[in-house]
Amino acid sequence: MTSNRRLKSYNMKEIKIGLLGCGQVGGGLIQLLKRQADFIRQRTGITLTIDRILVRDISKPRGVPGGLLTTNPDEVIYNLETDIIVELLGGLEPARRLILKSLSAGKHIITANKAVLAVHGEEIMRTAQENKRQVYYEASVCAGVPIIRSIKEGLLANRISSIQGILNGTTNYILTKMADDENKSFADALREAKESGFAEPDPTLDIEGIDTAHKLAVLSSLAFGIPSVFKSIYIEGITEITQEDIKNARDFGFLIKLVAIAKKLPDNWIELRVHPSMLPEKHPLTSVRNEFNAVLIHGDAVGEIMFYGKGAGPITTASALLSDIIELSTKISTHQLKMENLYWGKRRILPIEKTNVEYYIRFPIIDKPGVIGKITTILGKYNVSISGANAILVPGKKSQGYLPGSVYVITERTAEKRIRQALAQISKLPVMRDKPFMIRIEREY
Ligand SMILES: NC(=O)c1ccc[n+]([C@@H]2O[C@H](COP(=O)([O-])OP(=O)(O)OC[C@H]3O[C@@H](n4cnc5c(N)ncnc54)[C@H](OP(=O)(O)O)[C@@H]3O)[C@@H](O)[C@H]2O)c1
Repeated sequence: MTSNRRLKSYNMKEIKIGLLGCGQVGGGLIQLLKRQADFIRQRTGITLTIDRILVRDISKPRGVPGGLLTTNPDEVIYNLETDIIVELLGGLEPARRLILKSLSAGKHIITANKAVLAVHGEEIMRTAQENKRQVYYEASVCAGVPIIRSIKEGLLANRISSIQGILNGTTNYILTKMADDENKSFADALREAKESGFAEPDPTLDIEGIDTAHKLAVLSSLAFGIPSVFKSIYIEGITEITQEDIKNARDFGFLIKLVAIAKKLPDNWIELRVHPSMLPEKHPLTSVRNEFNAVLIHGDAVGEIMFYGKGAGPITTASALLSDIIELSTKISTHQLKMENLYWGKRRILPIEKTNVEYYIRFPIIDKPGVIGKITTILGKYNVSISGANAILVPGKKSQGYLPGSVYVITERTAEKRIRQALAQISKLPVMRDKPFMIRIEREY
């Protein structure tokens, strides 16, 4: 863009936007922009216009003039009229390549793509800095809940020491349905989530905890001032949670949630983990039900602060995108863009074996005299103490010539390494009919 044309555009306060992708979220953004255009003009004096849209299939109906659509990314990226490009392709490639190309072409980027930020965030942020361009990404975590802006601005005076979040609506919906109805298995709840539109046809990224880890990588990078450490995040999904575990959790006074945890420890150690957690009933995240998301942050000045809202949906996500567009447009038109010091923090990621919490363990056994003794002897050998009278034997139905049962144990705080060693040895006992399964207990918040 020539400087004259840019100046003219700023004086008129018209900001033109290019879209890379126009699926569910892109469609929501176009709809919301139409609905709020007058309101935005009244509040900010800025007229926002979508000028060019990249898609794969030009023939799909999208409610926009056909002339805006293209299958050639360069027509969006090198459009001299636009200052801002909104990336809504999803996934890693070509999203990463087109974001980098846009930044190098002098465009600012707004994205809802947590995957590309989690995996390639450092490269993207450094390219933005080199080109003196901005990357906004409010929509990438918890959709419409303004968590990114809150960490960046509202909590700027705080050293953030921990983040705990329910960051994925699909898994929270499934676990809520399993807790509400004791006849509902994981497979039943997943089917219901798909039928209700809360799970994708392929839900792997959600149920395996990867989507949650992408979002945790984005949040921890921002809160702790470190490059994204997605590869170092310990991840477990919810596919092995049974109705038995849900019921036991309730009996022991807990609720099971898929929780993302980022915690600062002394000497620059940071815990980063995503796994099912048993939360005591009074924990604030237990009130987060169905498809809702929440993030609980501890700042040294503000104390506990919790953000809550819907974590997905085209219009909810468009709300975050549009607020990014308005803020960036205002800054562009008033020449207030400033570069941030991105990575100011230090970090060493704590290996999962060094995690130190309490554990719930389910031992699937063959009901024979002395089983509990055999299990507790091995736990004792590895210094794993059982808290209170939390070991119980529940005989199942007779089948295959033996009585199946389960032993459930709550341990005291223990280094995970010792739990893993003990469980590896217990797995080899002839009285075990399957491998033991453990869930970490998170009392602190
Ligand atoms: N859906 C949500 O509720 C939600 C919430 C928060 C964040 N997000 C994030 O928002 C982003 C977009 O999600 P979405 O649900 O809108 O995805 P989507 O419905 O699959 O839309 C993707 C769009 O990108 C286009 N596209 C994909 N690959 C392309 C390529 N190689 N060349 C050209 N165009 C291509 C598609 O074109 P065609 O239409 O022609 O196929 C489509 O318009 C993702 O990063 C997602 O994680 C989504």
